[in-house]
Amino acid sequence: MRPAVNVATTRVQRVLEVSIRDTIRSGEAIAWMAGSFGAALLMAIAILTCLGANEHGTDDALQATARFSFLLFWAAYSGSALAALFGPRWRFFKTSGRSFGLAFASAHLVHFGLVLWLCQIGAAPPLGSFVFFGIALLWTYILAILSVDWLHQAIGHKSWWWLSTIGLNYILFAFATDFTRFPFRTDPKYILAYLPFIILTVAAPVLRLTAWAQRMIGLLRQRPSPAR
Ligand code: HEM
Repeated sequence: MRPAVNVATTRVQRVLEVSIRDTIRSGEAIAWMAGSFGAALLMAIAILTCLGANEHGTDDALQATARFSFLLFWAAYSGSALAALFGPRWRFFKTSGRSFGLAFASAHLVHFGLVLWLCQIGAAPPLGSFVFFGIALLWTYILAILSVDWLHQAIGHKSWWWLSTIGLNYILFAFATDFTRFPFRTDPKYILAYLPFIILTVAAPVLRLTAWAQRMIGLLRQRPSPAR
């Protein structure tokens, strides 16, 4: 039998390890959030300074910040699928999924700040946009809050799976709706500003579904065949 002192020391060591790991995780998440918010803010300030803080300049800043936060969202949405399909080289995207998600939520605050600025200068978007995109914004922050460790554990894995699947797909749908708002054109400006994002929007669910199918096939193969 192990002496009681040894058991107690092992427990203390484990508690310390977990709290050090959680602190590092929170530190990393804060750095990602601060970095992405700062980058989006700088981008918006630069565009408003060059084009003017009028409706035209603000629309351009909205388009740029939306694309920046979309890339972060895309990495959060597709990270696990990339790692599952293309191997350990892509593991970083899987292990940093939560950080990408939080960075997206943080950067998108600048997008919403620009929307408020549009309202302030008398060019408020229509009510329908507030409702449709407002729901996507709500999902963004619900998922960000639920990614806090103890809340995540409190709701359980199954509920988290459902909530994140519904929320992430609604947000993806909102991005897709805006990127495909205009009819397809062949001028370089459209191709550069829209086509890569439309392709990424389609690729994201395809990657997830393919990774899911691969996992299912793997599970079916592992099942012992019924005895004859
Ligand atoms: C998670 C939530 C949101 C997502 C995914 C999103 C997505 C986008 C995207 C992709 C664009 C670029 C459109 C383009 O290039 O043509 C954009 C621009 C814009 N967004 Fe958002 N947005 C969100 C929240 C909001 C909210 C709450 C509003 C408020 C009504 C809003 C208003 C706008 C406006 C006015 C533009 C500029 C449109 C233009 O070019 O004239 N967005 N958004």
